Amino acid sequence: MKKLLVVEDDPSVRTLLAMGLELEGYQVDSVATTAEALERIERERYSIVISDIYLDERSGLDILRAARQRNPHCAVILMTGRATLETVMEATEWGAFDYIAKPFDVSQIVQVVRRAEETLEELERGPAVWGQDLPASEMIGTSPAIVEIYKTISRVAPTDATVLIEGETGTGKELVARLIHKHSPRANGPFVPVDCAAIPASLLESELFGAVKGAYTGADRDRIGLLEAAHKGTVFLDEIGEVDLGFQLKLLRFLQERQIRPVGSPRPKPVDVRVVAATNRDLQRLVEEGKFREDLWYRLNVVRIRVPPLRERAGDIRLLALHFLRLYNERYGQQAWFTESALEVLERYRWPGNVRQLQHLVERLTILAPQGRIDDQVVKEALQAMEGRQGTGETLAEAEAEQIRRVLAATKGNKSQAARILGIERKTLYRKLERLGLL
Ligand SMILES: Nc1ncnc2c1ncn2[C@@H]1O[C@H](COP(=O)(O)OP(=O)(O)OP(=O)(O)O)[C@@H](O)[C@H]1O
Ligand SMILES: [Mg+2]
Repeated sequence: MKKLLVVEDDPSVRTLLAMGLELEGYQVDSVATTAEALERIERERYSIVISDIYLDERSGLDILRAARQRNPHCAVILMTGRATLETVMEATEWGAFDYIAKPFDVSQIVQVVRRAEETLEELERGPAVWGQDLPASEMIGTSPAIVEIYKTISRVAPTDATVLIEGETGTGKELVARLIHKHSPRANGPFVPVDCAAIPASLLESELFGAVKGAYTGADRDRIGLLEAAHKGTVFLDEIGEVDLGFQLKLLRFLQERQIRPVGSPRPKPVDVRVVAATNRDLQRLVEEGKFREDLWYRLNVVRIRVPPLRERAGDIRLLALHFLRLYNERYGQQAWFTESALEVLERYRWPGNVRQLQHLVERLTILAPQGRIDDQVVKEALQAMEGRQGTGETLAEAEAEQIRRVLAATKGNKSQAARILGIERKTLYRKLERLGLL
């Protein structure tokens, strides 16, 4: 049983705490002043210290420092009725385990103490989950659907076949495209991603096919198009479902003839490019609705890869979470780990933003986790924060617009940061802002 120290100048609170914790089976020492506390900490080795912050001429922060210097694993729980940003910052810097606002229930303290105890045990054992060895790979997943994708990649990569990748946002479409390129004979050539939705329709032609000097106002020299830039490599036509019918015909011609004709040029030029396209729309339905050319669809659809949403491969969530944990622990110099209960919460969640959302969540948790421990409670709170508060009686579009405005206000208009918080790519944010008339 772990030894506990309670530091509290109010005698009734002190007694209440000591008794409550003893009833739970803890061995508790309690003192009223910082001097007594520091002396006890010197003499004994406490695993858990619960201390008031405002005591006498010294404070709970001095106790925190002393306890953690004596025993770096000591979990210090601070209580206060007058928390300020500064004290919380200092406490966090010194590795306080938790912060409890007064008044509190003894049961609340008991809960935090239990969590501290589990944490200490995990630290002593060496956190099992975080220590687990994962094969180093760029694409993570062992679920049957992902293994099928590995197989398809391995078969199509050596060929020049056109590939169409379908899947919801954040499922890993671009990753699949990059892997196809990386394992192809073109690997030493360029991989050129083109976000068809981010380029205004009027510019798509010159962006993709290039333009000769004088082709339009402002074209003061020849411009190489992205398709030519991808010569001997792979072009990744992302969000192909957003391209208008007129341009679809131009793309079709290119796929049939493998030649480009820069805007304003009379002569076509042959280019050697492998095409991989992606969409988060249902192209087949767009074809049925007459919004996507059937002939282009057939041309693109030589090999089709459907990347399933994360919720359909819940078995991979754990692997992905641990993969990202390792990544961000390294990047931020942290040693965070998941409790089993935390991983279970992740496995049950629906992940509307798929792998990208999971990745952002883990990044955030790695930075924010108290003493590196990420438990189910921490995960639930972070997920709620990510989802944002739901308004009442509004449509999904209104809620989205509202959330975007709120996050932009919070980031003072910093769009990269806002996109990160919202769990979408910057280009996606720009698209939404444009649609909302906020650009
Ligand atoms: N199976 C996976 N293993 C490891 N990382 C993954 C996996 N799937 C996706 N990711 C990562 O998740 C993030 C999102 O993936 P990606 O950009 O490929 O998604 P996408 O399908 O192109 O999304 P969007 O439709 O929004 O463009 C990337 O950082 C990617 O590296
Ligand atoms: Mg993408």
